[in-house]
Amino acid sequence: MSGAHPTLAFIGCGRITRALVQGLVGAGHPAHLLRGVSRSGAGALALSREFGITAVDGSADAVRGADIVVLAVHPHQTPEALAALSGLLGPEQTLLSLVASWRTEAVAAPLPGVPVVRAVPNVGVGVRAGATVFSAGPRTDASRLRAVEQLFAPLGETLTVAEELLETVSAVSGAGPALVAHFARSLAGAGVAQGLDERTAAVLAAHAVRSTGALLAQDAMTVDAVIDSVASPGGMTEAALRVLDADEVPAAARRAVDAAVRLSMGRLARA
Ligand SMILES: NC(=O)c1ccc[n+]([C@@H]2O[C@H](COP(=O)([O-])OP(=O)(O)OC[C@H]3O[C@@H](n4cnc5c(N)ncnc54)[C@H](OP(=O)(O)O)[C@@H]3O)[C@@H](O)[C@H]2O)c1
Repeated sequence: MSGAHPTLAFIGCGRITRALVQGLVGAGHPAHLLRGVSRSGAGALALSREFGITAVDGSADAVRGADIVVLAVHPHQTPEALAALSGLLGPEQTLLSLVASWRTEAVAAPLPGVPVVRAVPNVGVGVRAGATVFSAGPRTDASRLRAVEQLFAPLGETLTVAEELLETVSAVSGAGPALVAHFARSLAGAGVAQGLDERTAAVLAAHAVRSTGALLAQDAMTVDAVIDSVASPGGMTEAALRVLDADEVPAAARRAVDAAVRLSMGRLARA
């Protein structure tokens, strides 16, 4: 470990790795302590060009001397990625799996003696306003879990939950930015239907989301407090909110999360 900053190896250099690298480098993590490998090499090279991390050609070069190895590939790509790591990691290293639908015992099975942690970040980590939820897997004690959590602390909120809940966390938080952005698109569309031009409507909807996020973060307001700060009895906002409830937007959110969780549970990889 170099000072306070661990050396990280990213196995997979796609969208979530890009967000993590952006957040970490932005928070002062030295780029020379970050390495990445991707299947075609293009993703690792892109992160090297953009953020100055080291792009390497194979898992062996990536993980040599790394404190934390971040597994960031898709569920169906995981067996191949784990096979490439076989015999390369030791008990002093931590395998941090971001892979959806893979329980830590399944990730740990082909890596004897290697401590495993699972995390669900969201892309907000790129702008250091994300949420990352952790669960300790095999061979991981509290101090090791804390060390991994500390790495993510500059990137936003960190929480720990029981592993059985991580599929739900993936649906609510991992997918969360996409769900909220989807609503923003619907809001913009409603503005266009009332006569706003598309650009104006898109800017206004995006800023509605942005200002809500800033209020929740900086003023530590609750969601209910944000609603109360806008909606007055008998006013326009209240009329609009009544329609959202009547049109079962809360129920639609429940069904959306349920669909995501069911998909993930259906393809769950266990040891
Ligand atoms: N995106 C999110 O917001 C988010 C949030 C939480 C968790 N996750 C989880 O993180 C994982 C990655 O998601 P993503 O959205 O970042 O995917 P992505 O953008 O498709 O990136 C996947 C990366 O994995 C690389 N890869 C595939 N097989 C590999 C192998 N055997 N060895 C090394 N690299 C390999 C790919 O390389 P090539 O491009 O060369 O094929 C690519 O760089 C998924 O399991 C996902 O569920 C994602």
